[in-house]
Amino acid sequence: MEGPATEAARLRAEIDHHDQRYHQLDDPEISDAEYDTLVRRLRQLEQAHPEIVAAASPTQRLGSTPSAVFAPVEHVVPMMSLENAFTSEELQAWGERLSRRVSEASAFVCELKIDGVAVSLRYEEGDFVRAATRGDGRVGEDVTANVATIAAVPQRLQGEAPRLLEVRGEVYMPVPAFEALNRRQAEAGGRLFANPRNSAAGSLRQKDPAITATRELSLFVYQLGAVVGGPTLRTHSETLEHLATLGLPVNPEIRTVATLDEVEERCRWWLEHRHDLDYEIDGVVVKVDDLHRREELGVTAKAPRWAIAYKFPPEERTTKLLGIMVSIGRTGKATPFAQLEPVVVGGSTVAQATLHNEDQVRAKGVRPGDTVVVRKAGDVIPEVVKPVLAERAAGLVPWRFPTDCPRCGQPLQRLAGESDTFCLNVDCPAQRRARIEHFASRGAMDIEGLGERTSVLLLERGLVADPGDLYRLAPSDLLGLDGFAAVSVRNLLAAIESSKRRPLANLLFALNIRHLGPAGAQVLARAFGSLDAILAASEEELAATEGVGPVIAGSVAGFFALERNREVVDKLRAAGVDFGRVEAPALPQVLAGRSVVVTGTLDAFPREAAEEAIKARGGRAPGSVSSRTTALVAGSEPGQAKLTKAIELGIPILDEAGFTHLLETGELPGDSTSPRP
Ligand code: IVH
Repeated sequence: MEGPATEAARLRAEIDHHDQRYHQLDDPEISDAEYDTLVRRLRQLEQAHPEIVAAASPTQRLGSTPSAVFAPVEHVVPMMSLENAFTSEELQAWGERLSRRVSEASAFVCELKIDGVAVSLRYEEGDFVRAATRGDGRVGEDVTANVATIAAVPQRLQGEAPRLLEVRGEVYMPVPAFEALNRRQAEAGGRLFANPRNSAAGSLRQKDPAITATRELSLFVYQLGAVVGGPTLRTHSETLEHLATLGLPVNPEIRTVATLDEVEERCRWWLEHRHDLDYEIDGVVVKVDDLHRREELGVTAKAPRWAIAYKFPPEERTTKLLGIMVSIGRTGKATPFAQLEPVVVGGSTVAQATLHNEDQVRAKGVRPGDTVVVRKAGDVIPEVVKPVLAERAAGLVPWRFPTDCPRCGQPLQRLAGESDTFCLNVDCPAQRRARIEHFASRGAMDIEGLGERTSVLLLERGLVADPGDLYRLAPSDLLGLDGFAAVSVRNLLAAIESSKRRPLANLLFALNIRHLGPAGAQVLARAFGSLDAILAASEEELAATEGVGPVIAGSVAGFFALERNREVVDKLRAAGVDFGRVEAPALPQVLAGRSVVVTGTLDAFPREAAEEAIKARGGRAPGSVSSRTTALVAGSEPGQAKLTKAIELGIPILDEAGFTHLLETGELPGDSTSPRP
């Protein structure tokens, strides 16, 4: 069984991954609710086992790391995050913590929790001078030019403006604007945004503000940062009124209430009415109104004690399951999905939901014709939860997985020991299309403008049969095709041309080799350096690569053994696709697969930097010592529990000089032959 330290390390890695998808790529893989569940589990573990709390834990951080594209902006007053409450008990517990710290009761302000991107605006002598994202809370990104394009942001404040005013708020995209944007993206064969929040984030972080200007963003302000001058304010509600008189957009749905029971009532009301708004909210923010009391309450490392976000649970609705269909993916995988009577849930209309595989359909026990519960956690992926048995009509029969592929008619096969079913016909038109689309997708060859619609068109016209044919397309092939004029033809061909210079890892991933994801492709690319070296390698040589297991090795070798796949490779080679672009890791990965624990204070490294240094070299930096620890680095005032454990287990204990040596060479001092695995 997984111990708490291992589980926490796994959760941290998962959360870091999802943070990156969300903050840096604006392309989340899981819903906010699922993300919150991971963070809550990690926090529970850390509370129960304080010895495993790591400085680099996501629970100790604010927001995300600022990116390199925008200039950094330091926030004079840090931009904090909010603590969350998911249940009425958690809200009441917050209230009890408040009353333990301050004697007198105070009113609460209930605001909508706008689901957008936090920004800080700076006005000097009434003029808008700067806008920054939250970043890591202390340093954000300069998005002034982009925010200046938002109509709701006044360039100049009205009335008597303070000398300096920093105000925090949320940039968001109204739902109708989001839907229109996705329609335009779909028509242009571009990427669709998962939800209004992601489209707001993506639009705000455009390098070209002219693009942001086309995106119909808006803003609500809800909090003060640094202020010099202006009236004395005693309450938060007064502050909001003051901001409104300056011409700043304050959300109208603000209510000041006296008790937590009224707060709860307000939360329940918004849970029911959230979709009456034309923008998305993911909860209600509750703030102590009295500013003096706020000061008494103070802040924790991450969030103010005087505010809490009551977050909405995933929404559920019932609808009719019209039928269960099967779609064929790029690997031939046959995925059952539910065809639903359209229902609005979690802010958008859901008409389809994946059912994953045969076993899942059986486990959920849903039958075509059933009334079913559908859940959507705010965004991303809608889910069929269960049937409403009380409403099941007589005579409904369990669904049976089809025996033949719905696209090509060839037999489907469920492999022994697997839950997935496959269409094994590589010429199946559904697979061909999915392979082209995958080849052109962002993590692969990133060919802008080559989405589902264009893939279908090219295949139907017989212009391509496999990805290798893309590089043979000529302007005359495309001109006159539905939706293609001179400019779009030129753009698509230019995008195909520039894809010839993608890194090897992208090329490998683009080839659509079963079991080979982006991470495995990266490992192979770095180990072999070129596609030709991989082609020349035996299955054993592939499997001997650190980080490549027998499953991937078998699949890669099997893939290149097939004549038809070799043909695709030959077409790519003939077209001049670069087979050997390998992006070197930033640092030699001397600690790959090893685990180094840091305790106490080091002179040259703050704790976080020491852990970062380990990770940057491919190692792990967990918060506790175990039998798998490579070394314990002990600075001054080390944790006694860790020291004792390391001594008991015979794990090398390094001082700072030993640590520096380990970082440089991967070797433990005095042992240049065999570092502990
Ligand atoms: S107050 C110090 N008020 O929610 C308090 N935040 O989960 C700062 N948010 O980072 C936040 N609506 O991006 C506040 N009415 C509101 C909000 C709000 C949305 C966002 C904000 C914050 C995040 C925390």
